[in-house]
Amino acid sequence: MKNKVQQIFKDIDSFTITSTDSLEEFRLKYLSKKGIIPELFKGFKTVSPDQRKDIGRLLNDLKNKAQEKFNQARESMEFRKEKHEEYMDNTRPAEEFQLGSRHPVSIVMNKICDIFARIGFTISEGPEIEDDWHNFTALNFPPDHPARDMQDTFFIEKDPEIALRTHTSSVQVRIMEKNKPPIRTISPGRVFRNEAISARSHCIFHQIEGLYIDKDVSSADLKQSLFYFAKELLGEDTGIRFRPSYFPFTEPSAEMDVSCNICEGKGCNVCKYTGWLEILGCGMVDPNVLNNCGIDSNIYSGFAFGMGIERTAMMIYQIRDIRLFFENDLRFLKQFESII
Ligand code: DAH
Repeated sequence: MKNKVQQIFKDIDSFTITSTDSLEEFRLKYLSKKGIIPELFKGFKTVSPDQRKDIGRLLNDLKNKAQEKFNQARESMEFRKEKHEEYMDNTRPAEEFQLGSRHPVSIVMNKICDIFARIGFTISEGPEIEDDWHNFTALNFPPDHPARDMQDTFFIEKDPEIALRTHTSSVQVRIMEKNKPPIRTISPGRVFRNEAISARSHCIFHQIEGLYIDKDVSSADLKQSLFYFAKELLGEDTGIRFRPSYFPFTEPSAEMDVSCNICEGKGCNVCKYTGWLEILGCGMVDPNVLNNCGIDSNIYSGFAFGMGIERTAMMIYQIRDIRLFFENDLRFLKQFESII
């Protein structure tokens, strides 16, 4: 009998109670009327008198142990149940749901896309990893152009040269190679330049490229389209001016400024007291570029433009440091919550 009782001690120890079902199973097996322990007590009658004292103590210990294990398990289950009910209290206010908002770069990018979509421009995209042809050669870049320098561009491979695109102008080439005029498209996207990061420049930023190719497109179309764009983006009273410039892929080329709507042209520290802010580069697509892309420059002409989105957002929202766009600081991002 002694050995049997000791074995039951071990069985009780190794019995794991994890649910109400296993708790009940334990009770039935050891403690209920027909359970092992009451049965042992019944058999106690047959124990010889000299062993009674020993076995009797052992049986009592066994009963206490089983009862204690049962009580403990039941208590901890009740505690868990209470906790659960507390958690499930339907009258408690819901936990705050953190709603995200659009990034200012996306807000400005979408606005610009919408403005051009209203005058028939489609939206197109190209790869961020580009070959030399699409990023430079087809766009009429001479072999010694500074952007082709290892110092200025992130090259991934040499021979053939593969780089992170330095501008969205590469998408122009892809579009012209694949489509026949009339072409009217804008191409937003990320671009990369090997530049030191400062308040005014970053090695990653976004641009939007515009391209319009058809018969008889003139610089009057360029001016009128961009005038419409400036007024839609910045307000009806916005003025524009063009300054001659140079880009390898346009001839003639220009930089477009918009009148400063902070000081209304009077001069302030935002426009550096000039009354004007530079917003984009543009020009008439160079005939060499059209021919490189399989479009007959004797029949077709067109204009193109490109602008930095961070720059434009900085101008619109008076943001003084380009790094803020990339830091994901909620104190900055939350300021654009109400703007769609
Ligand atoms: N790709 C030029 C840049 O990154 C911007 C640009 C200028 C694009 C003139 C154009 C353009 O399409 O016509 O600085």
